[in-house]
Amino acid sequence: MSIPQLLTEFVNYVDFNQRSFFISAAAIAFNPTFWNIVARKEYRDHFITRAFGSAQKGCYALAATIFSLGLVRDFLYERALRDQPSHPALEGENVTYAAYALLALGNILVISSTWQLGITGTFLGDYFGILMDKMVTGFPFNITSAPMYYGSTMSFLGSALLYGKPAGILLTLHVLIVYIIAIQFENPFTSGIYAKRERERAKAGGYEEKKEL
Ligand SMILES: *[C@@H]1O[C@H](CO)[C@@H](O)[C@H](O)[C@H]1NC(C)=O
Repeated sequence: MSIPQLLTEFVNYVDFNQRSFFISAAAIAFNPTFWNIVARKEYRDHFITRAFGSAQKGCYALAATIFSLGLVRDFLYERALRDQPSHPALEGENVTYAAYALLALGNILVISSTWQLGITGTFLGDYFGILMDKMVTGFPFNITSAPMYYGSTMSFLGSALLYGKPAGILLTLHVLIVYIIAIQFENPFTSGIYAKRERERAKAGGYEEKKEL
């Protein structure tokens, strides 16, 4: 069976009459939309920093919020999968092994990147003015530039395969598209934040040189 045939076959096993499917899709799209809107507002007028009294505390509060939204999203995804039919082709042992491998690898990517970046580095600290000293290049960043996003996508696919649900594969494609859009939107902005710091550092360095003269 070719891949387009396989996809058509799988889509026939997606029950679009289940509201939970669309609620899950909405939650998946909501999260990155929410954190990008909130973080950019924080960057512009520091409303979270002012509410919590410090950038550090504000960033931790946002981190807790994003983390909780992630739990809600995962819960809604599992609930959506439960309402969906399984496909016999996804019930074999090999599919189960692939599912566990994806879940393990996905979690390794997410956990190791959080370990490397720390809480503020993971959860939009840059927008609060909490910048990393230098770019992290060690594992998992030597494998992918967005381990958090690709790791999360792998976990979604792992769950879809574990439960044998084509609807989960479709929702995983949705996750991937949402994250690719998020990356396109976020990367130029954070690069801009760091470029600004480099310019300021260069300027400060220039003054020091003059002082030494
Ligand atoms: C990435 O870094 C890890 C740990 O340092 C290393 O084991 C691995 O081989 C590296 N991978 C690539 C593709 O460079």
